[in-house]
Amino acid sequence: MKYMTDKLKVTGLDGVIAGETAISTLNNGLHYRGYAIEELARDATFTEVAYLLLHGELPTEESLADFRAILAESDEVPDAVIQLLHELPLHIAPIDVLRTSISALGHFDLQANENDVIANLGKAIRLLSHIPVLIAARYRLTRGLELVEPDSELSFAGNFLSLLHGRLPSARDERALERTLICYADHEFNASTFTARIVASTGSDLQSAVTAAVGALKGALHGGAIENVWEEIQQVQSPSDAERFVRDAISKKRRIAGFGHRVYRDCPDPRAELLKEVSQELATTDEQQQLEEIADVIEAAMWQHKQLRPNVDWPTARIYHSLGFDAELFTPLFAAARVIGWSAHFIEQQSANRLIQPRSNYVGAMPRPFVPLHDRG
Ligand SMILES: CC(C)(COP(=O)(O)OP(=O)(O)OC[C@H]1O[C@@H](n2cnc3c(N)ncnc32)[C@H](O)[C@@H]1OP(=O)(O)O)[C@@H](O)C(=O)NCCC(=O)NCCS
Repeated sequence: MKYMTDKLKVTGLDGVIAGETAISTLNNGLHYRGYAIEELARDATFTEVAYLLLHGELPTEESLADFRAILAESDEVPDAVIQLLHELPLHIAPIDVLRTSISALGHFDLQANENDVIANLGKAIRLLSHIPVLIAARYRLTRGLELVEPDSELSFAGNFLSLLHGRLPSARDERALERTLICYADHEFNASTFTARIVASTGSDLQSAVTAAVGALKGALHGGAIENVWEEIQQVQSPSDAERFVRDAISKKRRIAGFGHRVYRDCPDPRAELLKEVSQELATTDEQQQLEEIADVIEAAMWQHKQLRPNVDWPTARIYHSLGFDAELFTPLFAAARVIGWSAHFIEQQSANRLIQPRSNYVGAMPRPFVPLHDRG
């Protein structure tokens, strides 16, 4: 097949400003609606951050209580979607099951055909509430475990941990998960968010945009990287083996997941720095402490040989392992947080919309006469 790819200049839209947003920025550190990620991850709950991203302002105590009450009222997943989780074959990856079940949820949403801001805020809240239930239900069903009822008294992260593990989490684990979710909630025009905005710009619905965004997220260069981080770090037996691992990857021109970033080239990814501390705090067993040492050696070697720094997925894979999650849950956990960013961007795009339709530079065959089938050699 002739694709003539040697002629194509591959830019990946690097550095292109593709639009405006008031939701988050990576300029001078990561900020959500003007608030620094460091302060949010230290002092806010994920639910406050979700409110901030969706509504533009931090909630008051009263509005937060209302928001939590609406989240709690919205956690019931339609039986037909739970049935679908039973029926999808076991080999299907959790992130693919999540994508399919989010699409299916759209059929049962009472506001499916409404596309105004209020309806979309309602849909976003329902998705935020449903996604942990979907992830945990599939996880437990495939292991023959009883499903756990959501507990609205718990924090978002506490409820998520309890849905998955079937027991109340420690305050330390709850806070650690919460901090990762805050860091994952939004990140300007990343690939999955831009996907959601393109879908929004056509006048389509939120569930379609989030379904498409999950499809974009799962790729190995984007959110799917976190599962590869775990696979790779497991191949390293000891800190003394770590330097060899990096050299070997570089000599084979193989990328190491969890390193490099399209935007954070001359500065660290602030989320990676923040979450490294969390990962270190959680590392109490010998195995976890050795993983921290291995991670340190790999970081130093990647800097020495490629001048590449870790991105958010690098420490988060270790955090999720410490919290007792299997690697196949890592990308779904990312999606459970990023759904807030996708929804906020969807609403912003539709509130000030023009169809997103760029042009391409044509480098293919020049116009030529059509050759009838019987004359083609
Ligand atoms: C995130 C990522 C896709 C950004 O890609 P990008 O902006 O297109 O960067 P480029 O492809 O231009 O890479 C620039 C150079 O760094 C190298 N590089 C980038 N990431 C690398 C990695 N993780 N491991 C090894 N080398 C890497 C490239 O090979 C290239 O080297 P070269 O100039 O010698 O060819 C890329 O860094 C990557 O693939 N990282 C691993 C996947 C990952 O962790 N994704 C999650 C991102 S949050």
